[in-house]
Amino acid sequence: MMLMTTKRMLRAASQNGYAVGAFNVENAEMLQAVLAAAEEMEAPVIIQTTPGTLRYLPPEYFAGMLREKGAGAPVALHLDHGSSFELAVRCMEAGYTSVMIDGSALPYEENIRLTARVCASAQDHGVPVEAELGKVGGKEDDLECSDAQYTDPDQAADFVRRTGVDSLAVAIGTAHGFYKVEPRLDLDRIIRIREKVDVPLVMHGASGVPDEKVRRAVENGMAKVNFATELRAAFSQGVKEYLEKDHGVYDPKKYLSSGAQKVRELVKEKICLCGSQGKARDLMAQVE
Ligand code: 13P
Repeated sequence: MMLMTTKRMLRAASQNGYAVGAFNVENAEMLQAVLAAAEEMEAPVIIQTTPGTLRYLPPEYFAGMLREKGAGAPVALHLDHGSSFELAVRCMEAGYTSVMIDGSALPYEENIRLTARVCASAQDHGVPVEAELGKVGGKEDDLECSDAQYTDPDQAADFVRRTGVDSLAVAIGTAHGFYKVEPRLDLDRIIRIREKVDVPLVMHGASGVPDEKVRRAVENGMAKVNFATELRAAFSQGVKEYLEKDHGVYDPKKYLSSGAQKVRELVKEKICLCGSQGKARDLMAQVE
C-alpha cells in the first residue's frame, strides 16, 4: 500500500516529462476500478472527488476505503475543486493526501487570500495544495463557468510566490464536460507559464480533448491531467449494457461491476496517454 501526497508524485512527473492521471470517482466501484488499472499498469494515480461527490458520500468514506483496500501502486487521494476552507480542512483531517482550493471565480486578491489561508493550514497537516488561476470553462458538478479566461504567465508567477501553493491549475482553453465543438487549445501558453512558474502545472477538462493534444500538453509541461466526464459516462454505459442484456438481474454487484470494468479499461488508456505506465516502481523506491 502506498498512499502518498501529490507533492513527490507531481515533482517526479514534472522532472521526467510525463503526467500523473487524476481520475474523478463517485463510488466504491469506480475507486476500485482506478486502483486496479493503476496496479495493472504499474502507474501512480490520483483519485479525486468533487464537493458534489462528497455530498453524496463523505470524505471519511473515500479515505476509509483507500486505507482498508491498500494498493500495489502509489496513489494519492485529492479533493478536486475544493469550494471552501472548511471542506479542505475536513478532507485533510479525514486522510486526504492532497487538496485543491478553487478560488478562480473570485477576484484575484481574494483568490490569493483564500489560497494562502488553505496553504497555511495544509502545511500543518503535511498536505500539498493545488489552486486555480484563470478560468476553465464548462460545468463540473455545481461549478459552472461561461467566461473562460486563459492564465496569464506573469500573474501565475505572482500568484505562486504570494500563496506558496504546491501545484497550479492553468486555463489553456479546455472546459469541463463534453465539448460541443473541438476546443481551441493554446498549448504554447503552457511553455510560457512554465518559464515563469516552478511548481507542477495541472490540466483540467481533459475529457473529449483529442489524444494528440493531451500528449502535446504533457510534452509541454502539464504534470497532472484530470479526467472526470468520460469516466462517469463509461461507468454508466457499462451499467446500461448489463441491464439491457439481463432484464431479470437484481444483484447490484453484477451491473455495477460491469460499469467498473469499463472504467478500468478507460483508465488504462488514459494512463498510457499521460505516459505514466511503469513509473510506479521508481516512485515507490524513492519513498522506501
Ligand atoms: P472533465 O470532466 O472534462 O474530464 O474534467 C475533469 C476535471 O478537470 C476535474 O477537475
